[in-house]
Amino acid sequence: MAIKETKEFSRGMRDVVAAETTISFVDGENNKLYYQGYDVDDLAGRVCHDETVYLIWNGDLPNLKQLRGQQRELVGEMRLPDGIIRLLRDIPSHAHPMVVLRSLVSAMGMVDPEAEDNSLEANLRKRVRVTAWISTLIAAYYRVSQGLDLLEPDPEQCLSYNFLYMFRGREPDPEEQKAMDLLLMLHTDHGMNASTFAARVTASTLADIYSATASALATLKGPLHGGANQHVMEMLEDIEHPERVDEFIDTLLDQKKRIMGFGHAVYKGEDPRAKHLRTASEALCSRADQARFYEMSHRIETLVREKKGIFPNVDFYSASVQHALGIPKEFFTTVFAASRVAGWTAHVIEQYADNRLIRPTSKYMGLYGRKFVPLEERP
Ligand code: SDX
Repeated sequence: MAIKETKEFSRGMRDVVAAETTISFVDGENNKLYYQGYDVDDLAGRVCHDETVYLIWNGDLPNLKQLRGQQRELVGEMRLPDGIIRLLRDIPSHAHPMVVLRSLVSAMGMVDPEAEDNSLEANLRKRVRVTAWISTLIAAYYRVSQGLDLLEPDPEQCLSYNFLYMFRGREPDPEEQKAMDLLLMLHTDHGMNASTFAARVTASTLADIYSATASALATLKGPLHGGANQHVMEMLEDIEHPERVDEFIDTLLDQKKRIMGFGHAVYKGEDPRAKHLRTASEALCSRADQARFYEMSHRIETLVREKKGIFPNVDFYSASVQHALGIPKEFFTTVFAASRVAGWTAHVIEQYADNRLIRPTSKYMGLYGRKFVPLEERP
């Protein structure tokens, strides 16, 4: 039987072009990242996350009126439906926050009356709703799990302020808010990463935006993707003191173990986001009396660069930054999701706009022409 020759198999689909997009460009050769044509190096420290969300969604940075309008829309959608709050209170407090988030975003798809309306108008409203709800869900689950009261957002404030306020129960000072804006901005979108690809595959079947977001959340959780930041913090806690770093890392490398927060599928050199988070980590850790977490991180980076020739990615310094902001490590990946949901929803709407069912092929490596044997004759 003549078998049609399939294309060459690419492990992990490296260098396979799965979509055409204008949302972001990950330039792996030059270690640069662009959002709608803006270099993130030019955005870092100069925009709030709300501006980045507007840019990713609308293709350009907002003016003040547009920014205020979007902030009002987002804050206006932050209130959780009563049914969801009841669900939250019944969730066991030991549940992993990413599992809670994945489950409750699916539950949101049950309570949103226009969940199944796939018109562009409805999806433009739902991208705001799901982005607003994810931040609120994370903060609400944390506070319910700690036996604390739920807090309402401040309608005059932006996403980074409201996230930290609703989560911690105290308002961020200007330096904390600036660091949170930087952290969220740097996580907003990143080309065809695994969770974005998952969202686009789901959207390509014309499933709704909540289903696509749930696919993306399930994918982001993995330790090779967004789950890495929690593992970085666990490594820092295991090392405990800067003087133990060298022995710890040498052991990991001798055992051929992966160093979490290092390496990248696209960047040949340093992830352009890492340098900004390194600077934020040094500043935040020292003022939060957590300097050893930055010191350990910096020593690890020096060693891994020297001994393995690989570089930190976005997750590495994100860990010490989030720790210094008072976020428990189990919630680190949910913070990643709270930012990336803007990118996911942008990609989902881009996929709907020029859709074809995503259906790659595979290289069959199995047997052919096997003879059927009825059950009663099988030995
Ligand atoms: C994110 O894709 C995106 O854009 C994702 C992301 C985004 O913003 O959406 O950037 C966010 O997910 C960042 C990555 C977070 N994950 C981690 O930090 C987990 C640790 N990193 C590795 O598992 C790895 O670097 C990957 C998974 C990120 C990339 O893996 P690749 O491209 O498939 O590379 P590989 O696993 O084939 O490794 C190539 C070589 C190997 O050496 P050899 O066996 O050939 O000698 O590099 C080594 C690997 O052993 N290597 C590492 C390493 N990463 C690669 N060795 C030790 N520690 C590591 N972290």
